[in-house]
Order: sequence, then structure tokens, then C-alpha cells
Amino acid sequence: MEQPILEIKDISKYYNDIKALDQLGFTLHKGEIFGLLGPNGAGKTTLISILSGTVKDFSGTVRFKGEDLFANRRLKNDIGIVPQDMAFYEDLNAMDNLLFWGGLYNIPPKELKRRALQLLDIVELSTRSKEPVKNFSGGMKRRLNIAIGLIHQPELLLLDEPTVGIDVQAKVRILDIIKKVGMEGTSVIFTTHQLSEVEEICQRIAIMDKGSILASGTLEQLVKLVEEKEVVDISGDFESSRIVPVIEKLPAADILAVEDGIVTIALDDTDQLPAVLSHLFQNTIEITDIKIKSPNLEAVFLKLTGRSLRD
Ligand SMILES: Nc1ncnc2c1ncn2[C@@H]1O[C@H](COP(=O)(O)OP(=O)(O)O)[C@@H](O)[C@H]1O
Ligand SMILES: [Mg+2]
Repeated sequence: MEQPILEIKDISKYYNDIKALDQLGFTLHKGEIFGLLGPNGAGKTTLISILSGTVKDFSGTVRFKGEDLFANRRLKNDIGIVPQDMAFYEDLNAMDNLLFWGGLYNIPPKELKRRALQLLDIVELSTRSKEPVKNFSGGMKRRLNIAIGLIHQPELLLLDEPTVGIDVQAKVRILDIIKKVGMEGTSVIFTTHQLSEVEEICQRIAIMDKGSILASGTLEQLVKLVEEKEVVDISGDFESSRIVPVIEKLPAADILAVEDGIVTIALDDTDQLPAVLSHLFQNTIEITDIKIKSPNLEAVFLKLTGRSLRD
């Protein structure tokens, strides 16, 4: 098999007493779109910041194209970064922003102009390239941010939650752009807390929580982790503290996640459901709704983290 483009091993990072990353590791292959899925506080931004060189004082190793990423400064030029907080000049127009950011690299002016035009086309901003960026919508700003990350033609693009705070249509356009970038051969790491996004565009997915990767693989591989189980949402007028001990008495049911009014359990078979319901009934727990779900990434996430991404 081809040598991975990026190999991350045992990265740990503390902010004073807070352990933001805990021996995190994964590998990325060339041209792969890799999704890092994790709730707020999982450590996604910390990891992206370490890879982009803005967060220091960590332990562990990162090899990029077979070399130590932090020992060879030249390697940084092959990485493009699209940070969560957007970086550009609001008073400049989109074209001038691209020329400015591209100017930080050794790109001949003619070539820089050519790339800027091409990228404005890819991110669908060609017709608005002369307007100050401050007039742009959130989605347009995010698209410009991606173009800036690509101006020096990096081999690896890091995107930190590029779809946060924009509407559904704007999101779809951003996901399409990321897909296109991946198809051109650029490797992509993309963080999100949205299940549907990684399901849609990523070849491989890592589930991240509390600073570590709990599982990684293709969607099919990950879903296999819960495939043998039936996942059931039980809703009702109950408090989580009351329903948990009641369900714990049932050996057949595993609690995947619980909050007031809704508990998600895994059963080996739906045949076991009537017994579960009658047990709840005997314990005077009122049920208003039952939903049987096919195994999906959400169930995997619940199983691995014990909580829902919506929390
Ligand atoms: N500059 C910082 N100082 C102190 N704690 C931080 C800092 N940045 C992040 N953290 C903490 O590190 C953990 C991971 O944060 P972060 O990497 O931002 O996660 P995510 O991007 O997945 O939401 C959180 O507990 C967060 O509060
Ligand atoms: Mg973040």
C-alpha cells in the first residue's frame, strides 16, 4: 500500500490542567477526504492548530510526506489552512485578498493572478470578486476562506468546521467544493460536529471525543460496530435519573444515551422490546413514543461516547 501522506501519533496537549488531546493518532492517505467528527470541546481545533503550527507545547509526532512536519519548515508550504475563525481583510475585495495571501508565498505574479481567478471560479465568487468582503454573506466569506487556503496549491488542506453558522444551501455548496478539491487529488482533513456531513463527503471518518479518536474507518466499517444491535429511542415523561436504574436491571438492554424524556438503548433483537416496555410499565414509567432505528453513524457515536452529538 502507498505510504500515507500524514501520520499522526500519540499527540497529547494540555492547556494548564485541561487535557485537550490525549494520545491522539491516525493516518491519512493521499487524496483522501478524512472527517473528524466530534462534539464541542473534543479537541478538533486544537489538533488543526497543532498541524498548522499555531499551537505549540504538545507531545507526539506528525510525519508529513515521510518527514517530521515540525523539523522541516518547508513542509508547511504544502499545507493549506481554513481556520474556524475566518482570516481575511474585510475592506479588501475577494481578488485582492487572494493576491495578498498568495503574496506570502513565492508565487510569480502572473501565476498568482491565474490561480486566484481559477479559485474564484471554483468557489463561485467570480462575479463578486471586486466587492469588499465586508458585503459578503456568511457562506460567501466561508468560500473565500477556502480559496485563500488553496492559493498556494497545498497537497493537504485542513478545514476546521467550515460549515458552522451558515444556512443549509450555503453548506451544500461548501461540501461540494470540498468534494471537488478532494477529487483533484488534494488530501483533506475536515472537522465537524455534523454527522450528515461526514456521511456525505468523507472517504474515512474518525469519531473523536475528549481528545482521542475512539474509532476510525469507512462509514461501512464504523456502522459494523453496532450492526448486530437494534437501536431504539424510547420517549416519555421521565427523568433520566429515574429511568436509568430501571433499564439497568434488564440484561438485554444497553443504554447508549439518556437525557430527560428520551433514552436510546441497544437490543440484540427487537423481539426483546415487549419485555423492556412491560418492565418500564411495571415501574410506572410513562412511554409516549418508540422509534426503532437502523444502525447508523449516530448509533455508533452513541455507543462509543455514551452521548448524543446534539448535547
Ligand atoms: N487556549 C485555550 N486555553 C485553555 N483551554 C483551551 C484552549 N483552547 C481549547 N481549550 C480547551 O481544550 C479542549 C478542546 O478544545 P477545542 O480544541 O477547541 O475543541 P473543539 O474544536 O473540538 O470544540 C476544551 O476543553 C477547551 O475548553
Ligand atoms: Mg473547534
